[in-house]
Amino acid sequence: MASPKIQHGLEIKFGSEYGAEEEQAALDVIRQGAPTSGEACLQFEADFAKYCGVKHARAVSNGTAALFLSMVGLGIKPGDRVITTPMTWIASAAAPATLGAEIDFVDIDPKTYNLDANQLAAKITPRTKAIVPVHLYGQCCDMDAILAIANEHGIAVVEDAAQAVGSEYKGRKAGAMGTTGCFSFHEQKNMSTLGEGGMITTNDAALFERIALYRSHCTRVVGRSTKYCSLDESKIDVGKAFWWQDFDDTGYNFRMTDIQAAVGIIQLKKLDALNERRIRNAAFLTKALADVPGLTPPAILPGNKHTFHLYPVMIDAAKFGLDKIDFVYKMLHERGIKLGTHYNPLNWSTAFKKRGYDRGQFPNAEKVGESSVTLPINPRQTQAALEYLVESIHAVRQ
Ligand SMILES: Cc1ncc(COP(=O)(O)O)c(C=O)c1O
Repeated sequence: MASPKIQHGLEIKFGSEYGAEEEQAALDVIRQGAPTSGEACLQFEADFAKYCGVKHARAVSNGTAALFLSMVGLGIKPGDRVITTPMTWIASAAAPATLGAEIDFVDIDPKTYNLDANQLAAKITPRTKAIVPVHLYGQCCDMDAILAIANEHGIAVVEDAAQAVGSEYKGRKAGAMGTTGCFSFHEQKNMSTLGEGGMITTNDAALFERIALYRSHCTRVVGRSTKYCSLDESKIDVGKAFWWQDFDDTGYNFRMTDIQAAVGIIQLKKLDALNERRIRNAAFLTKALADVPGLTPPAILPGNKHTFHLYPVMIDAAKFGLDKIDFVYKMLHERGIKLGTHYNPLNWSTAFKKRGYDRGQFPNAEKVGESSVTLPINPRQTQAALEYLVESIHAVRQ
């Protein structure tokens, strides 16, 4: 029989949970020749748009592509400035940075770890073209405040909802409030499309069309959609040439495959139940860890549905008895539990040091970077695994 460590500790792992329905859906698409961007993608997009309450959704190859295409659709170019948080996965900032934009970081609210809307207005310049609020760990940013500032200045809001599929802010779905919403279906996310995948949502028809074009090499099909052709249509005998391809511009290939989309359709149906399990796991941990000195569980802001992609805790080393590094080390080596260290603030990274940032500029984000860890919370945790996790936290402090 496996030791409790193996049974409960090493069981605490990442990755998505699939069942017979996903297997069948994938098999069906394989038997149809496994196309890309076909019927299953269209269905997934329609279902996803409905779920979020938006007019348009386009499936893409990953969350980074969703962010990047949002920036492309908005026309972000060298010299523009884009605001985001330093406490995030690099994709939030990399998408605009790779297009030549300069990144302005705004420090976080120490309670929610999200971009502090109170510090936002001071960072707006005439060159600011977009704000990327990141709904970190599954909790939405203070969107009323962010949207008010963005609207006042005519700036686009690209919601990074990679970690917040199904989350809500005052009854509105994450990804349905900004100019676009960007989702990731990476294997560790609250729902997944076979390890990679993403979605862009928007209510802006013209922006959606640009995004859809650039996703797939800016392809126009003449004959079915002559309106968009940049060729001289009078020279094309549409009757003879059933279709004729033109490219409005040089674009990208960020398409999703139908196997992924078919799995996504099923995962989306299960999403609310999967999120409920995360919420239940989080509630259990928050209660069970309430009396641990020097450990602060995550706060949920009133009006938010936090879907706990991750469960961050702050460690006050003096009271807890261990600093973050020792805590992570002991949990792994003595208890077989891998804790997460999401994230080091981006101003600490070489990529942003090259762009003029350095340590010491964002005290709230840096405190979280120095002192927080994330506990395993995904729906695959059994109650026994969660209890072992709590017991282990007590044990390593001894
Ligand atoms: C906040 C955030 N933004 C963007 C991304 C990028 O998503 P993907 O890995 O699907 O490209 C991630 C993924 O980890 C993320 O956590």
